[in-house]
Amino acid sequence: MKGIVLAGGSGSRLYPMTASVTKQLLPIFDKPMIYYPVATLMLAGIRDILLISTPRDIERYVELFGDGSRWGLNIAYAQQPRPNGIAEAFRIGRTFLDGKPSSLILGDNLFFGSGLPQRLTAAAALQNGAHIFACRVDDPERYGVVAFDADQRPISIVEKPRLALSNWAVTGLYFYDGQASDIAADIAPSARGELEITDLNAHYLNKDCLVVERLGRGFAWLDTGTPETLMAATQFVCALETRQGIKIACLEEIALAQGFIGADDFARQAASAPGSAYGRYLKNLLGDLEIDARPISLRVVSA
Ligand code: G1P
Repeated sequence: MKGIVLAGGSGSRLYPMTASVTKQLLPIFDKPMIYYPVATLMLAGIRDILLISTPRDIERYVELFGDGSRWGLNIAYAQQPRPNGIAEAFRIGRTFLDGKPSSLILGDNLFFGSGLPQRLTAAAALQNGAHIFACRVDDPERYGVVAFDADQRPISIVEKPRLALSNWAVTGLYFYDGQASDIAADIAPSARGELEITDLNAHYLNKDCLVVERLGRGFAWLDTGTPETLMAATQFVCALETRQGIKIACLEEIALAQGFIGADDFARQAASAPGSAYGRYLKNLLGDLEIDARPISLRVVSA
């Protein structure tokens, strides 16, 4: 499966923070926002990623990620000149996707929860239809919203409904079969002038091949489009990382755990990491790895 990260938009709700810096490069606590969605795709087992951003900002991402090989990824880049909507990603990404199944994630969406990697891996095994996730929110009018029948099957999906259909918002993480680009090619712009991802999802729903998986208690889904939600995401990550001493969305750690890079690659990167908290975390992980590599007898002695 291939992945797309859409990091376009003007970030106008975060002006003037975004006057000269693209929204998805603003920090969420200790790393750029874009690390979180890239980590989510990696946890789904995806290594071929197309990063789409604006002509103004694309170079900043190239500077940050390069070709992605540090994390065992293949990262390609494409431009979205105007904010024409999320579904446009499948028109822009048509050649990259080459008719293969894909996952799209929005560059400002952060997912966290126990068991998430298993759910992502299961969704990424999709060959036919579409698989999306829904979370309960208090303000459904800000999102794509899905309504369910008494058997919990999805029956309708509407973008930013004025009258709430339900409190289940569609998150910015989508899995599709190989037809997404073809379907996106036929979508017409909505009243707000955008190619709506909700219309793509509605197409799959009408064909009765849309799975909507609900993320209930124990999962956090944060989007970071306003100063308040940006701050809330930072506080969330800070609280968890500081309390537990583990990092969320540490790309090197995930790359190693997923087998995208080997222990030697990881060791080289950790050894040369700068002295930030993130760098020290990599060095500590390296220390743990070296301990684990010792013969069992030594490990027992030091335990
Ligand atoms: C977009 C989608 C919406 C989805 C949301 C998730 O909203 O259009 O369906 O629920 O992302 O973050 P937008 O960012 O365009 O307001």
